[in-house]
Amino acid sequence: MAKTSQPYILGTDSQELHRLGVQHQIWASEAQQGWKNAGFAAGHTILDLGCGPGFCTKELAYIVGESGKVLGVDLDEGYIQHLTQVADLYHLNIDGICSDFNDLQLKPNSIDGLYSRWALAWVPNAKEILQKTYDALKPGGKMVLQEYYDWSTHQTEPQLPGLSKAIAACLKSFKDQKGEIDIGRELPRILAELGMKVTSIRLIPKLATPENLIWQWPKTFYYSYFPRLVHMGLLTEAEAKQAFEDHKTLEKDKNTTLFCPMMVEVIAEK
Ligand SMILES: C[S@@+](CC[C@H](N)C(=O)[O-])C[C@H]1O[C@@H](n2cnc3c(N)ncnc32)[C@H](O)[C@@H]1O
Repeated sequence: MAKTSQPYILGTDSQELHRLGVQHQIWASEAQQGWKNAGFAAGHTILDLGCGPGFCTKELAYIVGESGKVLGVDLDEGYIQHLTQVADLYHLNIDGICSDFNDLQLKPNSIDGLYSRWALAWVPNAKEILQKTYDALKPGGKMVLQEYYDWSTHQTEPQLPGLSKAIAACLKSFKDQKGEIDIGRELPRILAELGMKVTSIRLIPKLATPENLIWQWPKTFYYSYFPRLVHMGLLTEAEAKQAFEDHKTLEKDKNTTLFCPMMVEVIAEK
């Protein structure tokens, strides 16, 4: 594990690896739309900041092709090893870099684009990290950032008290960490302050029902994260059990709806 000032709150075990894979299936089309809107293309060097195991890094590598390159940066050694194996297996031009964002060294004017999803919410100094990547961006280069705009929108209809309590505990844990979970809403201002031109702001709502794939996004999150909340002392074992029972009750009714935490995509040009 690379040196880091605080542990990453969601963890990086095999359950989280699987959850990120499910999450990517649900969010891949939104990422692809962002890359298309930004004009990421063959020959580009793209930085995937906080790439995790590299679900997006792999897709970006197909876009940049043999003449381009994707730099995947993450502090978790296991994720970077996974990414390196994927790159070897599929013969893709990917450099996996195991580093805390704070220790990352990038050459000025060396990248054509930056993509980052669910990474800036976990750091206390998002603007400083973005300044560093701004310096590395070539003039005309684009940033595509996808982060939460308002995590508190996360709710079910009907609402069952046990699950609602656990969802509230998730939000509390995110508010207690040093980053800003809703960093997405701050991005247009931060990027403008860095001297970038914000070219697009797109809110991305997702509504899950027990019968659609989106349902698996919060579900895999609950099964990975509620036990962590118990460990953190934000939920008792009994409360976690009740939350799972409530979830099973909701899942049996195909008319249940679940409004996911509201996301935003911000695209900006240097
Ligand atoms: C929710 S995951 C998202 C992964 C990937 N962007 C995706 O969309 O699948 C957040 C990632 O950010 C990484 N991360 C969190 N804080 C970091 C830091 N300070 N430096 C480098 N990586 C960090 C974590 O290790 C984790 O892999």
